Amino acid sequence: MPPTALADRPNAEAQNPVQFTDSKLIYFSSVSENTKRFVGKLEMDVARIPVFATEPQLISTAPYVLLIPTYGGEHGKRSILPQIMKFLQVEQNRENLRGVIGAGNTNFGAYYCIAAKRIAQKCNVPVLYKFELMGTSDDVLKVKEGLETFWTPASQNRQQR
Ligand SMILES: Cc1cc2nc3c(=O)[nH]c(=O)nc-3n(C[C@H](O)[C@H](O)[C@H](O)COP(=O)(O)O)c2cc1C
Repeated sequence: MPPTALADRPNAEAQNPVQFTDSKLIYFSSVSENTKRFVGKLEMDVARIPVFATEPQLISTAPYVLLIPTYGGEHGKRSILPQIMKFLQVEQNRENLRGVIGAGNTNFGAYYCIAAKRIAQKCNVPVLYKFELMGTSDDVLKVKEGLETFWTPASQNRQQR
């Protein structure tokens, strides 16, 4: 490698910083932070997909479940936010994905949690659960217990991809 390339490397890393995570639950929440409030009640180790382009890109190093809200355009168009698309464009993040939990609002009818459904279909993983807005205490309990069961070795063996 020429010395100039070596000299440029720290510069390149500074411009495209990354943050690695082995969290089993990775979520996105926009500035309204409904999803963040739900995730806080789970009391789990979690990682948040960056909201702003200036934040480091998140890279998953272990199998995880993705928890995301839907922000649909007309007829469900562009329902997956660009931050989530950017995260899933990283091959490692797609490879480690094991399931999706959707947050949304049933007022959107057929497009309720459509982003979670589309990602699950595209990445060939299950939609594990759906809930509205910041979820109820029942949702919190179901997701907590559901994830514990999901990550047991017996359950993982059944789902091996
Ligand atoms: C402009 C806009 C569009 C939305 N579109 C959908 C939708 O198509 N389907 C759905 O289930 N929820 C939709 N929602 C509801 C959000 O998914 C819900 O408010 C979610 O809790 C937002 O999470 P956040 O505050 O963590 O970003 C929409 C909300 C807004 C503000």
